[in-house]
Amino acid sequence: MKKPARRPGAEAVTIRPATAADLPGVIALDQETTGLAKPEYWHESFRRHGGRRGGGGHFLVALAEDRVEGFIVGEIRAWEFGSLPCGWVFAVQVRPGRRLRGLGSRLFATVCAAFREAGVDRVRTMLARDNTVIHAFFRSQGMTAGPFIQLETRLE
Ligand SMILES: CC(C)(COP(=O)(O)OP(=O)(O)OC[C@H]1O[C@@H](n2cnc3c(N)ncnc32)[C@H](O)[C@@H]1OP(=O)(O)O)[C@@H](O)C(=O)NCCC(=O)NCCS
Repeated sequence: MKKPARRPGAEAVTIRPATAADLPGVIALDQETTGLAKPEYWHESFRRHGGRRGGGGHFLVALAEDRVEGFIVGEIRAWEFGSLPCGWVFAVQVRPGRRLRGLGSRLFATVCAAFREAGVDRVRTMLARDNTVIHAFFRSQGMTAGPFIQLETRLE
């Protein structure tokens, strides 16, 4: 995979917790990235992880001139699968025209800082095997294979 050239910086972009007003921008960006519109999923994700409730969830948006340029969603989870408390990143996306300017890294650093502040020292994620871009991105953030494996079977 040949990596496209890096573009100028993402300094003009502000990162903050999402509000309900940001959801249409999040939904549109996700539809642009994945080809699927999932408004109900994102509203539910915002209810679970968003706002300033002080819980373990983080739903952050990156904005430039009020436009959603990127977002990241994560949460601190504990004890499922026998796991000690750790941060999970469920989704990270940057608008295609803003990529390769460091914004994805800033979003990841921001959510990791929130996880650290909450007392956890580890972050995990899951990604599709064939998504080479997201794989390269997470590797660039220092992530490597973790101690758990995922299994599945088809239900007849
Ligand atoms: C992954 C993604 C968030 C990265 O955002 P970004 O703002 O471009 O990331 P950064 O500029 O901070 O890149 C950080 C590093 O990631 C790696 N990287 C990012 N994009 C890459 C690409 N297209 N090819 C190879 N490596 C890449 C590089 O190592 C890069 O560092 P470098 O430019 O100094 O070499 C963005 O490409 C994206 O939204 N992709 C689609 C997301 C997706 O498919 N999500 C699945 C559903 S959630």
